[in-house]
Amino acid sequence: MLQLDFSRCHASRLGSEHGLTDEELNAIYAELRPACATLAAGGDFGGQRWRGIVREPVRTAHLTAIEAAAAPWRDRARNLIVLGIGGSALGNIALQSALNPPTWNLMGDDHRGGPRLFVLDNVDPATVGATLDLIEADDPGFANTVVNVVSKSGETAETAAQFMVLRERLQHARGADAREHIIAVTDPSHGTMRTICDQEGYTTLPVPEGVGGRFSVLSPVGLFSAAMCGIDIAALLDGAAAMDDASKSSAPDDNPAAQLAGTLIGLTRKGKPIHVLMPYANALYLLADWYRQIWAESLGKRYDRDGNEVWTGPTPVKALGTTDQHSQVQLYREGPNDKVIGFMEVDDFGRDITIPRGFGVEALGYLEGSTLGTLLSAEKKATEYALLESHRPSYTIGFPRIDAFHVGAFIQLWQLATAVAGELLNIDAFDQPAVETGKKATFGLMGRPGYEEWKEKVAGTSRV
Ligand code: PA5
Repeated sequence: MLQLDFSRCHASRLGSEHGLTDEELNAIYAELRPACATLAAGGDFGGQRWRGIVREPVRTAHLTAIEAAAAPWRDRARNLIVLGIGGSALGNIALQSALNPPTWNLMGDDHRGGPRLFVLDNVDPATVGATLDLIEADDPGFANTVVNVVSKSGETAETAAQFMVLRERLQHARGADAREHIIAVTDPSHGTMRTICDQEGYTTLPVPEGVGGRFSVLSPVGLFSAAMCGIDIAALLDGAAAMDDASKSSAPDDNPAAQLAGTLIGLTRKGKPIHVLMPYANALYLLADWYRQIWAESLGKRYDRDGNEVWTGPTPVKALGTTDQHSQVQLYREGPNDKVIGFMEVDDFGRDITIPRGFGVEALGYLEGSTLGTLLSAEKKATEYALLESHRPSYTIGFPRIDAFHVGAFIQLWQLATAVAGELLNIDAFDQPAVETGKKATFGLMGRPGYEEWKEKVAGTSRV
């Protein structure tokens, strides 16, 4: 299982000005009791149902449906293009970069064990255009390409626009058979995408009811593309269920999700609202991107659940070890003491590279015969020490190795910790009302009927 170490967040290591004292920890543990009771009972937070999707009977229903949709294509498709944004894309990207080699798309078709994966999570015409060009330059181009459109609502402008572009390309290549190449993940009964899928006869997989975008990676939203690319999605769910079980402990100091939420919200209250997640493994970097969304969009809220204006929410930041030691750590040690640094550390990378004899220069002799893995590990420990010396709190999430089980556990850990943090902040962690204004203004600017007033409003404030 993942190993969590919060000792460098405590006053006993950091001093009472910046670390959590025993009194503060006990107060938070007392506050955490109702959330721990919900965790222990396997209950839902805010009426959401994402905890249940890692268990039977939903688990088997999803695995069976995903396999049925993936099996006909896994060995036949050369390209899989995922269309989605936010919670409908960040998890897909994170799973692929954590669990498949970074060279996946460059590998020969016989070596990959699944299609090349392109996740178009933006409408930048240069990026979309370059991807289309790459696929069309191949023979047979779009004829062996699968498009996996992911949208719970179907009304997200970016995903809808991408889908219209890609559908036209598929139709050009495949004519009436184009619909066979489209697999949609959407609401099983409601919404614009549902209407389109029913009308066009696309294969669909569900975004389960009661599962919001940023809590949906362990549903077909994230699992279909992972399964297509050979990732062990059953092991992802096993890891998530194991973390869910571990987080059922009623003792907050023995409960990973409660500890993570309690520590980070406790330190936020001590003037440390900037929460950095810094993996010492390139493969885990885009999981930090996924974390950024769930922590920011869930906890950044104007009103609490009693209607008081609170303008609350920590600011998540991602960094990469060792790379950002040479970019960010100067700030983390000598800038404002307003951050908590979360390290992600891997015990076993499954391989290592020995550093050979070098130049005979004394200053570099210490590297000879060591390994890149040893150097990476030493740099993490050195940074942890340097932060402690500057009275900066840090914690570590240790991965015995990077595999589907531990990635699943990591995802569930943050989903649970986010829900618990929402309880501590007394906010709704599952809505995103502030995103709506921008969406409506975009509709107005793009000429969607019914949104004319938004066009006027933007015109009054825009650069001329
Ligand atoms: O977390 C969320 O709810 C959002 O990031 C959504 O996932 C995102 O806006 C995409 O929405 P949809 O799946 O409806 O296209």
